[in-house]
Amino acid sequence: MAFKTLRALSDGAFHSGEDIARALGVTRGAVWYGIRDLAGCGFSIEKVRGRGYRLSPALSLLDAVTVSEWLGPAAATFAIEVLDSIDSTNTRLLQRAAAGAPSGLVLAAEAQTAGRGRRGRPWRSAVGSTLTFSLLWRFARGARELAGLSLAVGLALARTLRAAGAPGVALKWPNDVMLPAGKLAGILIEMQGDVLGPSAAVIGIGVNVRADPRVAEQVDQPLADLESATAEPVDRNRLLAQMLAELGGVLESFAQGGFAPLRAEWQQLHAHQDRRVRLLLPDGGTLAGIARGVADDGVLLLETADGLQRFHSGELSLRAEAAA
Ligand code: BTN
Repeated sequence: MAFKTLRALSDGAFHSGEDIARALGVTRGAVWYGIRDLAGCGFSIEKVRGRGYRLSPALSLLDAVTVSEWLGPAAATFAIEVLDSIDSTNTRLLQRAAAGAPSGLVLAAEAQTAGRGRRGRPWRSAVGSTLTFSLLWRFARGARELAGLSLAVGLALARTLRAAGAPGVALKWPNDVMLPAGKLAGILIEMQGDVLGPSAAVIGIGVNVRADPRVAEQVDQPLADLESATAEPVDRNRLLAQMLAELGGVLESFAQGGFAPLRAEWQQLHAHQDRRVRLLLPDGGTLAGIARGVADDGVLLLETADGLQRFHSGELSLRAEAAA
């Protein structure tokens, strides 16, 4: 995709083909092809004789320097790299982690050609409408001692999205961030290192910032987006900075004390707390029960016909019956 042309038009103002060509150091013909390419990707570009081209609506494209400025003093914790297009920021960051990349490295991408979700599912996104990034965080402890990490990360996102003005943010175990309209953000955490430590977590996050038919038509569940929820345009650079700042604090606290100190707050945001649910187990079976929240190590507590049971993995859905 013609990312340079998209960046040149991202402010939503009119730009003449000549000005764009000069700024990018390319021919006017190349600009024309770029604009045709962008239109083919679903961007709406208006052409007015004598004024040039205008992208509508404007897009806040990611920029590492702008994210660092928003971060202020917290910028020292992170090294941010923005990529136009990549297969998956998680896949790339896992490779970088294996090669010794430092804790705090962030890879954010405008486009992912093979974005990955939990349980082997694809993660769909669209340029400018989704915020997709991965954060590398190193722990002295081994992966086995990091139980509840994904819930802690979900909590950090929920706090940020609430502070950004989204009403009704809730957490669906283990770590989907939900709004009443549907899923707002997803998290994919992949671990590296020895079970006894040290270990590294690649924390991949995808947030639906703007409703986009290119995403909705490829996903078989209701989606929510931040701009519809807040009824305001969202600056993705600022949002990324806010998420990183919150994540930095939560991950430091998690490294010290684990999930237990965060549990009560998580539970307050639990979308299914004390409701009748169905748990789809990894072996394909299902179990009905009442969701009783999570334990200090992040496992799901489900009250079943056989008593209170603990589950490390599975997919939770609400049963049609009324609340328990
Ligand atoms: C899920 O809800 O299934 C998890 C979605 C995680 C998506 C993010 S987008 C950035 C990072 N790169 C990926 O390939 N996946 C994660």
